[in-house]
Parts: sequence; C-alpha cells; structure tokens
Amino acid sequence: MKITIAGTGYVGLVTGVCLADIGHIVTCYDIDEQKVQKMRQGISPIYEPGLEDLMKKNIEEARLFFTTDPQTAYEDADVIYIAVGTPENEDGSANLTYVEETALAISRYVIKDVIVVIKSTVPVGTNDRIQALIDKHKSPEIRVAVVSNPEFLREGSAIYDMFHGDRIVIGANDEYAASVIEEINKPFGIPIIKTDRRSAEMIKYAANAFLATKISFINEIANICEKVGANIDDVAYGIGQDKRIGPHFLKAGIGYGGSCFPKDTKALVQLAGNVQHKFDLLESVINVNNKQRLLLYTKAKEMFGALAGKKAAVLGLAFKPNTDDIREAASIVLIDKLLEEQVDITVYDPVAMENAKKILNDSVQYARSAVDAINGKDMVFIVTEWEEIKNIPLSTYVEKMKEPIIFDGRNCYSWQEAKSYPVTYISIGRGQAGEAQPLFSKHK
Ligand code: UDX
Repeated sequence: MKITIAGTGYVGLVTGVCLADIGHIVTCYDIDEQKVQKMRQGISPIYEPGLEDLMKKNIEEARLFFTTDPQTAYEDADVIYIAVGTPENEDGSANLTYVEETALAISRYVIKDVIVVIKSTVPVGTNDRIQALIDKHKSPEIRVAVVSNPEFLREGSAIYDMFHGDRIVIGANDEYAASVIEEINKPFGIPIIKTDRRSAEMIKYAANAFLATKISFINEIANICEKVGANIDDVAYGIGQDKRIGPHFLKAGIGYGGSCFPKDTKALVQLAGNVQHKFDLLESVINVNNKQRLLLYTKAKEMFGALAGKKAAVLGLAFKPNTDDIREAASIVLIDKLLEEQVDITVYDPVAMENAKKILNDSVQYARSAVDAINGKDMVFIVTEWEEIKNIPLSTYVEKMKEPIIFDGRNCYSWQEAKSYPVTYISIGRGQAGEAQPLFSKHK
C-alpha cells in the first residue's frame, strides 16, 4: 500500500510514522518547506515522547518519506489521509478551509483510483460533502471513495495510543473502501468498528464531549466537596469503582485545555444548533470549564484581596504533562488574570517554555528550574502535573519561600502530607481550609 498523509500536525505526523512502522510505505506531505527539511532528518516539529526515535527508524528503513510537492504526494497513492487542521471559527464552528483545499488538490493530481481517508475532526456530513466536492472536480474515469477514520490519540502518549487504542472507527459508504482501511490497520491489533460515515464523524465528537462532561462533572463535585468538607480524591475513587462509571477521567483540577476538548465541544454545540437542537448539557460543561480555569485566581483573590506587586511562580505551562502544547492551557488564562492584577510572575515548564515565550513575550520572567521559580515568591501556582513538579519536596517550598502559599490546581500532593508541613496548601476539592478528613489513606 502506498499511503500519503496530507498535513503533518499532531495527528498527521503520528499517524504517518506509526503506519510506516507497521510496514506501509508512507509519504507525509506538508506545504512548510523548513518543517519538511527537518522531518527528513528525523527532527519532529512537536514534542512527543518516542516520536523522533520512531521517525528515524522508519526513515532509515525506507518506509517514511516527506515531500512538499503535491504531485509526488497524490498522483499514485493508493490511500490518502487528510489530517490537516480544522481550527475554530469565531462562532465556534469548525473551519473546513484546509480540508476542502486538500480535497481539491487531490482531485487535481490523482491519476488512478484512490481512497481518501478523513482523519481531521470534521462536523457530521463533511465526509459526504468532500465526496461530492472531489467527484465534481476529479477526472471522470477515476474512482474516489471517501472514508471517515477519526483519531482518538492523546498528546503526550500519542505513540502508545496508536498501538494500544481501545478501538479504530471506520465510517464508509462503500464496503470495499472500508475493507481496505481495515486491512491497513489490522497490524495494530486493535478492535475495529465499521459504520457509516456520519456515525463515525459523530463518534469522534460524542467521545470528546462525553470525556469533557466527565471532567466538568467531577470539577463541580470537587467544588461542592470544598464547601461541605468532603475529599474529592476519595469521592472520585468511590464512584470510579462502579463499573458503570469507571475510574478514568475523574481527576478534578483546573479544567480541560488543549487542541481538542475546548474546540470540539464548541463545535458540537454549534452543530446541534444548526439542526435546531440546543445542547444545554454541553453548554453547561463548557461554562463550568471556563469558570474552573479561573479557580486558582479566584482563590488567590479571596485570600489576598489585592494582588498588585505580589510575586508569584507558575509551575507548568503545557495544557497537560508530556507535551509542549499550550493551546487553551489553563496556565495562560491564569497568567492573563494575574497580569491584569499587576502580579510579578515567574514561570517554569520542563518543555513548553519556548512555546509560551511566543505568547507571553516579556510580560513574565522565565526561570531555569522549578526551584529557581519558587525562590523568594509570595505564592506558587501549580498548573501542570509534570512528574518533575510533582516530585518537588514540600520542604523545598518551606526553604525557598518566606511564608509558603501553594495553590495546587492538580492536587499533586497528598492532603495529609501537606498538612504536616508549615505551608498554606490550597488544592482542589479537599474540604474548606483543610477541614475534610480523608477516608482512605492509600489514595491521595
Ligand atoms: C483528548 C482525547 O483524550 C483524545 O482521545 C482526543 O483524540 C483528543 O483530545 P488530549 O487533548 O491530548 O486528548 O488530552 P487528554 O489527556 O484527554 O486531556 C485533555 C485535558 O483534560 C487536559 O487539560 C487534562 O489536564 C484534562 N483532564 C483530563 C482533567 O482535567 N482531568 C482528567 O481526569 C483528565
């Protein structure tokens, strides 16, 4: 199988590299010459554990290629994956310009029958529209089948997810096209679900919306726990043991961020609105998340009143650990509020500093290490639960700060442990002013 991947963002690059690794000949196409030059040398444009090693291996073994030439990319491919971005329009809907442009380029260059797989997250009905668009512009003797194959990988564990995902969804209106995509994916050894194109498109949005709902739900329960003196860690554990609920995605914190949940939840609300359905539940999930991202700021404001002139450290900038991605990160929302209040801010993240600099410029100071960031500050905000940050001993805060105040947005420390140090430790959902008593000591 000769496979082409159009777009080397997160999804495109990881998909291309992993498809090469299971034995296919893969060409990744991108318009960015510089990026392509680097990728040819095995240099990844994104930070993703394990990705560069796998790139280098498959480049060396002559299964993975990169090009900026659309003709080379499309003309004799058996299967073309569209994995270009679908950014958010101002009204929250998904912008399909790049998907459509790619479809038009494919129509222009293909010279034999081809299957076009849409990996990008697209509103229900888009696969049908792209099929019609290609049919209108391709030469009449060529057959093109459009197949939906949404992506469920998580940043930071993308390679693992490609090889250990829970399911692969294939949405096709054509039996043959579905069976080709099934064959391509068989070596992953992951259960395959075949359905129609619209259902496949909906599965992607519904999955992300459901996961976002779980997070906003547990965050609301955490907020109530604080008021009634209960402990969210025990509550999450207690409900997660019910198999119908499950233990995953019940980690309370300062809300979800990243390139998917915020964008896809809004797009689904928009999609529902287009068919005159007001998606009240999902609108609430989004509103809860917007409030939750301000929670540490709200707590600091309650504690100090005026924040002007205070010195704060923000530990963790990425929207979650093991990525350098700061899109829709809670850190940026928090920092913006603190800057409005004229707080003197020092930030630290193990890998996301360069990306943060592009947005924050010189509005904050950049520390060389977490300990440097903490040194001499009035308060510390923990925003991303990197191992490095979770492993900072509480004694370090005691040594480096005059009166240590820690606002922990990711519950990195055990409530009990924090109580045994002379620190003011404010976390999420663990009773007001630490009044809640943990029920099970083995859980944090
Ligand atoms: C998500 C989906 O998991 C993935 O299937 C989809 O393809 C893309 O979107 P990703 O955005 O990479 O993946 O990260 P994920 O691990 O799902 O976390 C998203 C956000 O939710 C992060 O900000 C994380 O901190 C937050 N989160 C996650 C919580 O606050 N609590 C949890 O229990 C889980």
